[in-house]
Amino acid sequence: MKKLICPSMMCAEYDSLGQETRNLDAAGADIFHIDIMDGSFVPNFGMGIQDMACIRKNTEKPLDVHLMIDAPGNYLGLFVNLGADIIHIHPEADRHPARTLAKIRVLGKAAGIAVNPGTSIETVQELFPLVDYVTVMTVNPGFSGQKYLDFVDDKIRRLTGFQSKYAFGILVDGAVSPQKIAKLSKAGVEGFVLGTSALFGKQEEYRTIISRLKDC
Ligand code: DX5
Ligand code: ZN
Repeated sequence: MKKLICPSMMCAEYDSLGQETRNLDAAGADIFHIDIMDGSFVPNFGMGIQDMACIRKNTEKPLDVHLMIDAPGNYLGLFVNLGADIIHIHPEADRHPARTLAKIRVLGKAAGIAVNPGTSIETVQELFPLVDYVTVMTVNPGFSGQKYLDFVDDKIRRLTGFQSKYAFGILVDGAVSPQKIAKLSKAGVEGFVLGTSALFGKQEEYRTIISRLKDC
């Protein structure tokens, strides 16, 4: 099963964000994950637009913008101009998610929904024809370094059942460990957003960690 390794750049070493990006790119990262927060939809503030511009300048690989903000439809142009390739919105934060997802595709970008732990798959399934990715939040959004919410695994299992009808890829985001990667990739998950649980703050080189995760 293909595994997309997606470093969560809010966990990167900020003193040298450009160099970190180049190192992760060379080490085999597939998609760079950018967490944007507004202090309202989630009780925290994540990365800024300057951070995103810095990452864009240092890699040609896809940037995935995870919008944890209210009314995300109002800001699509900003993130497209900053070089986003994939834009994830939270349907819980948007009164008209179908309109916003359609707009992302009209802008020529890949569209995704990130689904909170408390949101059931059945609630958002009407949006499946409009998305390229469904990201299952495996922690409550807003902070890195949290504990994985095991009750979400049943939701992931049910979600894979929809893939026979819809062409979206499944990603997981939040406290994803190497053990979870091994288990979930066998279950049909193809993308893994990695922060402090599996990638950052470790003794080993990124290349060693990423190649082992891709083989596990
Ligand atoms: C949390 C973010 C995640 C987080 C992952 O809301 O969306 O991307 O940074 O970090 P860990 O792996 O430490 O949970
Ligand atoms: Zn995220």
